[in-house]
Amino acid sequence: MSGMRSTGRLHIGHLFGVLEQWVEYCKTADAFFEIADLHAFTTGFTEPQAIRDARNEMVVDWLAAGVDPSASTFYLQSAIPEIMELQALLAMITPVSWLERVPTYKGQIEALGQEIATYGFLGYPLLQLCDIAAFRGERVPVGRDQLAHLEFGREVVRRFNYLYGEGVEVLVEPQATLTEAAEVPGTDGRKMSKSYRNDILLADDEATTVEKVRSMITDPQKIRRHDPGHPEICPVFALWKLVKPAHVPLVEETCRSGALGCVQDKGDFAEALNAYLRPIRERRKVFAGDIPQVERIIAEGSEKARTVAAQTLADVRRAMKLT
Ligand code: TRP
Repeated sequence: MSGMRSTGRLHIGHLFGVLEQWVEYCKTADAFFEIADLHAFTTGFTEPQAIRDARNEMVVDWLAAGVDPSASTFYLQSAIPEIMELQALLAMITPVSWLERVPTYKGQIEALGQEIATYGFLGYPLLQLCDIAAFRGERVPVGRDQLAHLEFGREVVRRFNYLYGEGVEVLVEPQATLTEAAEVPGTDGRKMSKSYRNDILLADDEATTVEKVRSMITDPQKIRRHDPGHPEICPVFALWKLVKPAHVPLVEETCRSGALGCVQDKGDFAEALNAYLRPIRERRKVFAGDIPQVERIIAEGSEKARTVAAQTLADVRRAMKLT
């Protein structure tokens, strides 16, 4: 089980960090992928229309990346009342201090301001646990930034099973599975992120991609074309490893020796990236042109997800003697 907040179009950081792993999960696991629109509300509650618009854009990107809805379940968080019911029930046993201790809580308030310090935002990791626990999710592919949320969730599950399980694991402790490329650098060398405006979108056209790659920072000590470079600190080099590993030894050698200049390298890289993204972008166009189909995929997945979540909730209610 995994999910993404519906906050907009996806970039290649999502592709290499998460979506390619989702594609693999579809082949081997009974996977659930969530449009976390309620989580989007925790920080974006003043903009419901933006959250609504982002829903289909995001799913179009999932489909473009090759995540297969016929081999997995796409669902909309807000369409599953059982998730919110579970949140209300687990809230009874969740110490506020555990929530306050999660690093993203204070960190995000510092970054985004006191306005987001709502009850809902404090409960973000609990809601996330409910997303997972409602489906008894065992493995959760996420980036490093989500590990604290998973650890918090495991503690709540342990507490629930200890208090009400009578020796049975009513809820399952979820395990995070990290991707190697969980942190993809953006054009400025920081982690790729929409809020840093350093991203390259799946939805970008080829000319925009070339422009963005041209603007990328490289090794600041490589000033003239023939200066020897240090690929280990260059974000273009880091992206080469993801886009075309076979080409990496040549880039590394010629960059270090000074034979390869940054302008040339970026031109080559933009071409390789566009070639890599071409089939994804073609699929994207097809799905973006058929929104009714996208909405059908979400509706059908949500219906299926509800059936599964209802089972878990029945067990939770029984364990809590709420029948
Ligand atoms: N918090 C996750 C993020 O910001 C998104 C998310 C919501 C999620 N619910 C989830 C991830 C459940 C994994 C499982 O990226």
